[in-house]
Amino acid sequence: MNSEILFRPFRLKSLNMKNRVVMAPMTRSFSPNGVPTDDVANYYGKRAQGEVGLILSEGTVIDRVSSSNDQNVPHFYGEKALAGWQNVINKVHDAGGAMGPQIWHMGIMDNHHSGWVPSAPFEGPSGLNRPGFNNGNTMTDADIADTIAAFGRAAADAKRLGFETVEIHGAHGYLIDQFFWDATNLRSDIYGGKTLAERTRFAVEVIREIRRQVGDDFALIIRLSQFKPSAYTNKLAKTPQEMEAWLNPLAEAGIDIFHCSQRRFWEPEFEGSDLNFAGWAKKLTGKATITVGSIGLTGEFMAAFAGESSQPSSLDELVRRMDRGDFDLVAVGRPLLADPFWVQKIHEQRTSELKGFSVEALSQLV
Ligand SMILES: Cc1cc2nc3c(=O)[nH]c(=O)nc-3n(C[C@H](O)[C@H](O)[C@H](O)COP(=O)(O)O)c2cc1C
Repeated sequence: MNSEILFRPFRLKSLNMKNRVVMAPMTRSFSPNGVPTDDVANYYGKRAQGEVGLILSEGTVIDRVSSSNDQNVPHFYGEKALAGWQNVINKVHDAGGAMGPQIWHMGIMDNHHSGWVPSAPFEGPSGLNRPGFNNGNTMTDADIADTIAAFGRAAADAKRLGFETVEIHGAHGYLIDQFFWDATNLRSDIYGGKTLAERTRFAVEVIREIRRQVGDDFALIIRLSQFKPSAYTNKLAKTPQEMEAWLNPLAEAGIDIFHCSQRRFWEPEFEGSDLNFAGWAKKLTGKATITVGSIGLTGEFMAAFAGESSQPSSLDELVRRMDRGDFDLVAVGRPLLADPFWVQKIHEQRTSELKGFSVEALSQLV
């Protein structure tokens, strides 16, 4: 397999990558009271040493009382947490890497198994996390305005600390995605609506505010998914036309790169073409895209949470699609969680040294 195409540099505005490999955002819950520790900084620093082109942080939550259901998920606000992130980006830069935080509001959540709950109820477009599961409040206009402002502050702080980019978490059934989905957005005001295009309003306002805070020259990524953890086969956009009506308002508001989350990157998005989500997003918007999902592994990540182990697998199909120009960047999750030097091993064709993934890898930062 010739993986040379993965090792071409990529430049876009503030983003300057030595290769096309992105570390996918992965929640690790090793930041007590929301503050990233030295261990967290070393974990990311090692991935920079290991030649990852762009590191996306684990989801890190914005300044709203109930933006998180987990006490050990990092904050991206407050003096202590931001000092922790300064330590992280310094370590990444010292090792020659580039990084962006994935900024996140979880929206309506299940209560965490630890029993910890935030000091205010969860909040979302309509109090729902999925059909029939209500676990919080419907956001008021004031809640929405304050949340948009908090996203903007987080992005401004990321730029100030020296991060090269920011990724907005708009995927996987969390707050922004709860606005996109008609099953969780039952609003009849301007943030609701019958069409997916109408339900982009909240995301568009978040993006515009972030753009206002960081200026035109700062690369901005949004992560999106058609599926939800509660509904794998869900498709927000059922046709290319609907996808265009979903993505183009986000592009016009200021997105530079669409990070198109799939569980398996080779699965076609619509009938009649083998293009995947990232392939369609690039074709419909003309923007750069990132693909992700079981790259270099035999099994997918939701099954991994349930204990399924995965073995290393070939990159041929990935390279075939990339050669064809389907997407610009590729994100790798579990292989980089288990092995900081995965990219180097691919680069140097040390395939016999590649590791598989099993659930035990989640219990520590290596
Ligand atoms: C432990 C773990 C935590 C994750 N946390 C996040 C997260 O915080 N934000 C996010 O967008 N995706 C998250 N994901 C999904 C990954 O970013 C990625 O899309 C998924 O693992 C598929 O890539 P892979 O097959 O290379 O692992 C997580 C995945 C794992 C395995």
